[in-house]
Amino acid sequence: MTQTFQTVGVIGAGTMGAGIAQVAATAGCKVKIYDARDGAGAAAIARNTEALKTLASKGKLSPEDATNAAARMHTAADLGDFHDCDLVIEAIVEELAAKQALFKSLESICAETTVMATNTSSISVTAIAAVLARPENVVGMHFFNPAPILPLVEVVSGQLTSVAVADRVEAASRQWKKTPVRCKSSPGFIVNRVARPFYGEAFRVLESGGADVATIDLVLREAGGFKMGAFELLDLIGLDVNLMVTKSVWNAYFQGARFRPSITQEEMVAGGLLGRKSGRGFYNYPAGVPAAPASAFGPAPTMLQYLTESDALDPLIERVKAAGIKIQSRKEDDPFGAGTFRVGNATVCLNDGRTATQIAYEDELTNVVTLDLARDFAMTKRVALAKGDETSTAALADAVGLFRALGIEVSVIDDIPGMIVARTVAMLANEAADAVLQGVASAEGVDTAMKLGVNHPEGPLAAADRLGNTLMNAILVNMHSHTGDDRYRQSILLQRKVWGESSFHPA
Ligand SMILES: NC(=O)c1ccc[n+]([C@@H]2O[C@H](COP(=O)([O-])OP(=O)(O)OC[C@H]3O[C@@H](n4cnc5c(N)ncnc54)[C@H](O)[C@@H]3O)[C@@H](O)[C@H]2O)c1
Repeated sequence: MTQTFQTVGVIGAGTMGAGIAQVAATAGCKVKIYDARDGAGAAAIARNTEALKTLASKGKLSPEDATNAAARMHTAADLGDFHDCDLVIEAIVEELAAKQALFKSLESICAETTVMATNTSSISVTAIAAVLARPENVVGMHFFNPAPILPLVEVVSGQLTSVAVADRVEAASRQWKKTPVRCKSSPGFIVNRVARPFYGEAFRVLESGGADVATIDLVLREAGGFKMGAFELLDLIGLDVNLMVTKSVWNAYFQGARFRPSITQEEMVAGGLLGRKSGRGFYNYPAGVPAAPASAFGPAPTMLQYLTESDALDPLIERVKAAGIKIQSRKEDDPFGAGTFRVGNATVCLNDGRTATQIAYEDELTNVVTLDLARDFAMTKRVALAKGDETSTAALADAVGLFRALGIEVSVIDDIPGMIVARTVAMLANEAADAVLQGVASAEGVDTAMKLGVNHPEGPLAAADRLGNTLMNAILVNMHSHTGDDRYRQSILLQRKVWGESSFHPA
């Protein structure tokens, strides 16, 4: 295969630089590696050579390919050695001045056509290019850690990046067996921006006494369909690392409410509770994850009244039917309610961002229990419920009894707006919608980046289309009005999808 770039320079032989060098060499490029630290380049090549051998021993690479890839990596004595590179990628310290100085030196060494890529996670690509004679050659090539394994590359265009340069880097990323997603230079690019509400909402549930850490994680996993709960993921990433990214994005967006960090997280970091690496975070390591709290439940019902039908609830009602429970449908004209049914004494309302107490008050209903959104009611093995202040415990037990009869576990949480999954999914979609509105990336690009970059089970906009943009919008509007927090102001684009009855991914 003819490579878009034949000779690739990698500067910075730390975690990312070494990984990127391995990726480029495996794809067939000649790679030159330089690090300011003596011996770091050679050490990276030695580590990569071992990693390639391991891949060959596992049959993931042929022994010849592994040997050839290792032979393509060379150390560079100084920056002068980069004179014949057609692409240089920097993965040095995350400091604007250092990156600018490096590219400025390279500009006088390399050819006029050499593409200068930065692996920065948080610095503006436009700002890095600002001091250069040829800013059109500068582009973001944002790999994820570990670079040899994670497929996503955000190809980031600064204000002055030429389209041809971004096109070439996109083509090279594909040749390197990565999945490139184009985006515009803006704080957090795609993933580090759109993923923020996943942690932010979990902290807000915790801080408002909605549920404990283990319950929030359990519900996010088993009802939300996320691979990991927010707190276990924070423990894995490191609370300090995550807080640094959160603060960087928050400051870059002029301290906007959407990105506001959590006081709890700040306190934990101050106390050295950093997660797995410090032996203690939200969970104690090596102690196990605490079990979810048990809750009382009533008998299996024989009949359910489906009061307000909704697309999101229909799959659950199918499960009710399949369990032999009789359905009595009675459509009620309820334009804002997200779907309601009555079982025993309980009036169960799919959460629309309001609390059960608020729904009971506003909609003049009694014994309201709200049901948190599940990613897939047809399959979910857990749901979260909350009862209103006036709701009897017997009514709550009736609702729990229904789910237990369907083989669905129940977590009972406190009556907070947006519960756990509903607010998380709506806020992820909201941030994704704003990124699309602002031209940061396409809807397709944002969804791909979130699936590959942070392992989300579904793109946030595909999820919104499927679960209903009207429901997502209602959750945000209600949470905004309930909390008065600008954080929940809905994206103009999401609102437009509702009014225009259109979707982010038209069929
Ligand atoms: N670690 C991650 O998860 C991750 C993910 C994506 C992007 N990034 C970004 O990649 C870059 C590197 O991160 P890392 O985690 O690999 O860091 P690291 O500390 O592991 O490696 C950085 C290396 O760069 C070298 N270095 C520093 N300044 C230099 C200079 N002026 N010239 C030459 N070498 C220099 C250091 O000696 C070190 O070996 C940063 O911009 C970071 O934001 C990191």
